[in-house]
Amino acid sequence: MGVDGMVNLDDFEELAHKILTPAALAYYASGSDDEWTMHANRDAYRRIRFRPRVLRRVGEVDASTEILGVKTTLPIFIAPAALAKLGHPLGEVNLTRGAGETGILQVISSNSSCSLDELAEERREGQELAWQLYVATDRDRAEKTIKKAFNLGMSSIWLTVDAPVGGNRERDTKEKIARDPPKLGEKADGNSGSTSAAQFSYVDPNLTWEDISWIKSLAPGKPLVIKGISCVEDAILAKEHGCQGIVLSNHGGRQLDGARPPIDVLQEIRRERPELLKEMEVYVDGGIRRGTDVLKALCLGAKAVGLGRPFLYAQSAYGEDGVVKAVQILEEEIQTGMRLLGVTKISELKPEFVECLPP
Ligand code: FNR
Repeated sequence: MGVDGMVNLDDFEELAHKILTPAALAYYASGSDDEWTMHANRDAYRRIRFRPRVLRRVGEVDASTEILGVKTTLPIFIAPAALAKLGHPLGEVNLTRGAGETGILQVISSNSSCSLDELAEERREGQELAWQLYVATDRDRAEKTIKKAFNLGMSSIWLTVDAPVGGNRERDTKEKIARDPPKLGEKADGNSGSTSAAQFSYVDPNLTWEDISWIKSLAPGKPLVIKGISCVEDAILAKEHGCQGIVLSNHGGRQLDGARPPIDVLQEIRRERPELLKEMEVYVDGGIRRGTDVLKALCLGAKAVGLGRPFLYAQSAYGEDGVVKAVQILEEEIQTGMRLLGVTKISELKPEFVECLPP
């Protein structure tokens, strides 16, 4: 089917299930343990209902905004997700080109299958790219990568902190076992050797808040975002350590199973420290698949939201065109949602437009 046969983001996922290799599918689709958190992320949006207003002149709507001073046509970004080449030979290049064409921000993964130089080369005029960091145990290696991102002009650094070790992703482990079954009498070695495990072997599990100033010193003047915050206490610490933004995220349900959906964490911050939402940019990711999900998060105070798997699936199926189509679908859904809600600008989205049912 051609890319125009895709009607919503789930269509890309359905297609990806048919075309991806078993290893790619296991890696992209897996959550950790029983995948409760992965499913809860999405289900949480059903607990938020709209309180639309009517008769408010909604002929013209503008869904553009800014992420850390970078203009974006929509309040969404491509969340950093590793190994795009597992799904398509051009990998992350598809994401960079698609982001450039549609005017949204891509956050490039530390574990990207394309080099940072290659992606920097793909930037169109005026296109900004953000970069996600995992700090290596080998601090020389870490310094080199941060300086490289700085020198290539990445607009901000997004430090992911919810993966001091990889989560237990059993789909990935089982795929590895199916590919290479342990011989009789051989000791099985957990998920080591699986695609996921390889991604975290170099990451320093001993990183602490004290390391933040060191990271900032290597990229002077660049905004620092902490990705993987799951409670108000850590949101406060991020602010105290001079970060410009945080992503409320549980890594798409791939790390600690049982962690709360980020949209619930956003409500906790709104309840206990609402001023934080003004003092720094707060983003949310995990389970966002509809324009209405985006609007709910923004009503509750998020500045923008990230999507991971949908863009991986879209580029696997159709390369750059898939990424563009996925953004167009979201654009259509966001604009329709705004009109039906009775708002014409992103800044008008407020908590009064939603009612949150208890978890
Ligand atoms: C991720 N994610 C991720 N995050 C990160 O900071 N660095 C990374 O390299 C990766 N890699 C990665 C690979 C794959 C296959 C997935 C699905 C996810 C997490 C990602 O940035 C984001 O938090 C989630 O994907 C959001 O959830 P959804 O949109 O996939 O439901």
